[in-house]
Amino acid sequence: MAAARGWLLAAVALLAAAVLQHRAFARTLERDVYALIALHEEVRARDPQWAGVMDKWPVQTCAPDGTCGVDPCGLEWEGDGWEGISCRYQWDWDKSIPRVVTNFHLPKYGLTGTLPRSLALLANLTELDMDANQLIGPLPAEWGCLGNLIEIDFSNNRLTGTIPPEWGLLRGLVELTGWLVELEVDGNPGLSGCVPDGCPPFDRLCGRYPGPPCPSFTNDAFIGTAVGGTRIGTRCAPPEGGDQTLQAWLRCPVVADFRQPILGFFKQQQQKGRGSGGDAAAAATNVVPAAAAPKDNGLGAASMVVRPALGEPAK
Ligand SMILES: *[C@@H]1O[C@H](CO)[C@@H](O)[C@H](O)[C@H]1NC(C)=O
Repeated sequence: MAAARGWLLAAVALLAAAVLQHRAFARTLERDVYALIALHEEVRARDPQWAGVMDKWPVQTCAPDGTCGVDPCGLEWEGDGWEGISCRYQWDWDKSIPRVVTNFHLPKYGLTGTLPRSLALLANLTELDMDANQLIGPLPAEWGCLGNLIEIDFSNNRLTGTIPPEWGLLRGLVELTGWLVELEVDGNPGLSGCVPDGCPPFDRLCGRYPGPPCPSFTNDAFIGTAVGGTRIGTRCAPPEGGDQTLQAWLRCPVVADFRQPILGFFKQQQQKGRGSGGDAAAAATNVVPAAAAPKDNGLGAASMVVRPALGEPAK
C-alpha cells in the first residue's frame, strides 16, 4: 500500500517536473511577443470587431520579460496558440530555439481603420492576410522590411494610395520559395499607381507545363500580382539607383519604437492585478521596483524590467 503510494507520488512528481521543464523552454521570440502586445494596444479599442479578435488573445498571461503563459507560438493541441497567428512548421524545432510568428491571417472579420503599424515588427512573417475587411488608408512602406514574406493578401478592403516602391525589395522571382510570390490587392477601388519593379508579375508563376512547380505553401496556379478592381495600371520603372535607393528610404521599426504602448500595457496589467488578483497578478510579480530597474523608463513608480529590446529606439 505504502509502496504503491510512493510510486504514485514519484510518477506525479515526474510528470510535474516534465510540465515545468517544458514551460521553461524558450518559446515565442520576445520581439514577436512585444509586437503582438503593441498590436493589441494599437487596435483593441478601434471597433467591436477588433475588440472581438483581441479579446481572444490571452495577452493577460504575458509578462514584461516577453514570455506568455499561453504562448502565441504554442501548440494548439496543448491549448496554446492565438487567434489568427501561426508559427508554421516549427512544431518539431529544438525547444531551446525561440519560435517566430510566420502567419498572420485575419480575413473577413469586418475590421476597420488603417493597417496596424506594429505588424512591421514581425520580421519573420511569411504570410500576411487580412482580405475582405473594411481597412482604409495606405499600404505601409515599412512592409518592405518583411523580407521573408511570400504572400500578402489585402484584397477587398478600402485601401487608398499606391503600392510603396519599397515593396520591390521583396523581390526574388527566380527562386519561387522564400520570396514574395503572391501580392493580392484587388478589390480596393482607391488604390492607384503602378506595380513596383520587383513585385511578382501579373502572369501566373507556377503550375504550368513546362514551367516551375508551385511552391509548397500553395497549389494556386494563379499566384502573382492581382490588381483587378483597382486603378493600378502597369508596372513601374525601376527606381533610379535601384535597390540602394529603396534601402535608403526604408527605416525598419524596432521594438523600442513601441516602448510606450508596451510598457503602458504592463502597467495596466499590474494595476488590475493589484485590484482583483486575477491572471494579471502573475504578470505583475515579474515587475521589479523602480530602484532595481536598469533605469527610469519614464513611467514613474511602476517602472518595470526593461529588456534590451525595449531600450531606446535606434537613432
Ligand atoms: C527571421 O528573419 C531573419 C531575417 O530575415 C533571419 O535572419 C532569421 O533567420 C529568421 N529567423 C527564423 C527563426 O526563421
